[in-house]
Amino acid sequence: MVRRGPLMFHELAPLYDSTYAAKDYAGECRILRRLVRETADGPAHRWLDVACGTGRHLEILRRDYDVTGVDLSRDMLRYARARLRRVRLVRGDMRTFDLGEQFDVVTCLFSAIGHLRSERELARTFANFARHLRPGGVAIVEPWIDPRDWRPGHIHVVTQRDAERTIVRLATARRRGNRSMIHYHYLIAEPGREARYVDEVDVGLLVKRERIAEILRNAGFEARVVRPGFSTGRGLVVGRRTGVGGRRRPAGRRRSA
Ligand SMILES: C[S@@+](CC[C@H](N)C(=O)[O-])C[C@H]1O[C@@H](n2cnc3c(N)ncnc32)[C@H](O)[C@@H]1O
Repeated sequence: MVRRGPLMFHELAPLYDSTYAAKDYAGECRILRRLVRETADGPAHRWLDVACGTGRHLEILRRDYDVTGVDLSRDMLRYARARLRRVRLVRGDMRTFDLGEQFDVVTCLFSAIGHLRSERELARTFANFARHLRPGGVAIVEPWIDPRDWRPGHIHVVTQRDAERTIVRLATARRRGNRSMIHYHYLIAEPGREARYVDEVDVGLLVKRERIAEILRNAGFEARVVRPGFSTGRGLVVGRRTGVGGRRRPAGRRRSA
């Protein structure tokens, strides 16, 4: 049966860390820190990771920053909570969450914005990021694959094995207008159990990197595209929040980076 929607972040949340075990979160955090140092006005202390997933970036960043995470998926947050004792993790939608306070940095990584349905939703999301940032604070967004780089017909296989399970994930790519469609087929084998098969179709919004930067600018940022970004090669869109004031309580000053 083909299921639609981000099954990966619900039923398959237990597989997320295994599937991405080889992802270089430490290297990504080094790049993020450098971009924040280069971009922010003043020091950065408080870091909000939106669509934080199982908390892999926050696990590293918490050593130097006062961190908070937001994610839509209860299941992903359950894994994040197990990993990040005493870290504030809030269930919320990136378009609408309201923490009632401002941060020095807001990140939204590993193409989580690709789950939005339209440029209008992107604009709404970035306006929300602006509300959660002090003037001079930094937003860093990792886009979904740029439409110019999308390869319909591409087939990708990942095999991941650890003590708990072996996962083979085969993905086939299609395109329908400005939507990417990836059909993921998972074969999951755990010791003492029959192997099981699960599949899902993941639909993404294809928007050029430069257009994402433009939408960020319209939300009150000075924005630029940084390439290649992380090893995914998707680039990063980096913005400094402009303007003064803001209706929220200013960022606290706790640990410094
Ligand atoms: C590919 S994972 C990335 C997780 C994490 N940032 C990482 O780098 O490992 C995408 C995450 O986006 C979350 N997500 C999807 N739509 C969301 C939304 N509208 N608001 C908040 N989180 C969302 C999912 O629950 C999932 O945890």
